[in-house]
Amino acid sequence: MQHLIETQQFDRESLKKLFELATSLEGKRERTLDGKILAALFYEPSTRTRLSFESAMLRLGGDVITMESGDSSSQAKGETLEDSIRVINHYADIIVLRHGETGSATRAAAVSKIPVINAGDGNLGQHPTQALLDLYTIQRELGREDGIHIAFVGNLRYYRSPRSLAYLLSKYKDIRITFVSAPELRMEDDVKSHLREHGVQYVETEDMQAVFRDADVLYQTRIAKEWIKNDAEYEKLKGRYIITRETADAMKEGAIIIHPLPRVGEIAEDVDDSPHAVYFRQVGYGLIVRMALLKTILNGD
Ligand code: CP
Repeated sequence: MQHLIETQQFDRESLKKLFELATSLEGKRERTLDGKILAALFYEPSTRTRLSFESAMLRLGGDVITMESGDSSSQAKGETLEDSIRVINHYADIIVLRHGETGSATRAAAVSKIPVINAGDGNLGQHPTQALLDLYTIQRELGREDGIHIAFVGNLRYYRSPRSLAYLLSKYKDIRITFVSAPELRMEDDVKSHLREHGVQYVETEDMQAVFRDADVLYQTRIAKEWIKNDAEYEKLKGRYIITRETADAMKEGAIIIHPLPRVGEIAEDVDDSPHAVYFRQVGYGLIVRMALLKTILNGD
């Protein structure tokens, strides 16, 4: 794999290998990427993705250079993304890119001689490394990837992580997906067409009450204020689907609640000590999955 742009690039065998490597890296520090430099280019805000990639690189003995925002870069002077990527090719061995335009990772990869990892592109793009860690979390917590019922809840239109995970789940057997959202935030047609083509059952509903007792995985999302420009619409949509302690307590045994984070109220804080709440463990899984990705891409492991 030269560049990581979308989850469709993976097959079951490569995912199995990646996840085995991730598990083997838990709690480890190595020097296997000694001498390699990661450039973290974040044109949009991030806490988890940027810092976990940086931590992953440092734990593998590599080094990191960082651009924390577009405003702190020569984009502010009018430099194109393509020119910035051509320049950074001289400074680093791998680029991790988050950018506000859908398709930006593909554009970057087209001019880059070093690997580009898509860390989130636009509101209708993908966030493949988040989906990989989401799937790893499901596998670690449920002990399987086949035969699961997953309910994606809330913001399915302007959220690249559920889009990426839905594409990824189409590689597994007996997957049932329930998309729970307001009509304005329904999953886009490209994802639904892909699921139909791959024989994945899905239903769409506005009623979370109808699904949370049956789901193996409740995938909660944030209503993204940054993509919903109309304040009145944002106020109407946020708070529509809140996971309360009562919701969590009614879930079936062994079922899990995951969330890419950050949360802004859509999971009540008293859910955090529920046995179903795994969203903070999910963050830790993200670190080892990203370590495994860096080793795979840079060392061919
Ligand atoms: N989940 C996720 O992408 O979080 P950040 O925006 O903090 O990186």
